[in-house]
Amino acid sequence: MAEAKATAAAPQAMAPLTRREFLNYAWLSSLGFVFLVGIGGATFFFAFPRFKAGEFGGVFPLGKASDVLPKPTDPPIHNTDGKFWLSNVNGMIIALYDVCVHLGCLYAWQPVTGRFECPCHGSKYQKNGTYISGPAPRSLDRMVMSFVSASSQVVATTDAQGDPLPIPSDPSLNVIVDTGKVIQGASHG
Ligand code: FES
Repeated sequence: MAEAKATAAAPQAMAPLTRREFLNYAWLSSLGFVFLVGIGGATFFFAFPRFKAGEFGGVFPLGKASDVLPKPTDPPIHNTDGKFWLSNVNGMIIALYDVCVHLGCLYAWQPVTGRFECPCHGSKYQKNGTYISGPAPRSLDRMVMSFVSASSQVVATTDAQGDPLPIPSDPSLNVIVDTGKVIQGASHG
């Protein structure tokens, strides 16, 4: 019997990469890296809210309606952290962004005249934010407000026009202002 000769395959020498191949591989690797970073960034962005509760740009849980809402005869309440005024006009509540829509000064409530007035160029607004006079191009911007039950059910929320909300009949509902959702006031044309 002829002795079988073991013939081990000789290892093949790898041909060296050409400069063009090397550059192509490097380019493809960098594309893959950019893709992975993009996916990771998008996941992080959607998984974590950009603003914490109680931080401007995020949601402000104010407390029970009976404790935090102004009465119809009360002056508007300024929330300086959230940058809004809570204003009660005949039993309707609105959250007004506290920046003047002309050039961005902070306007203030004037109890003597019963209106908001801007110290910079004199724009004036009603208690519900409606434009009265001055160089401002529109009524005050407003923020989305909601009344929420203890079980986190939204009972009422600001509509797309940013109209004031009726005061809830249930005083135990929680009041929430979303300072990340600003609705432009109407132009006065
Ligand atoms: S910034 Fe308010 S009137 Fe000009």
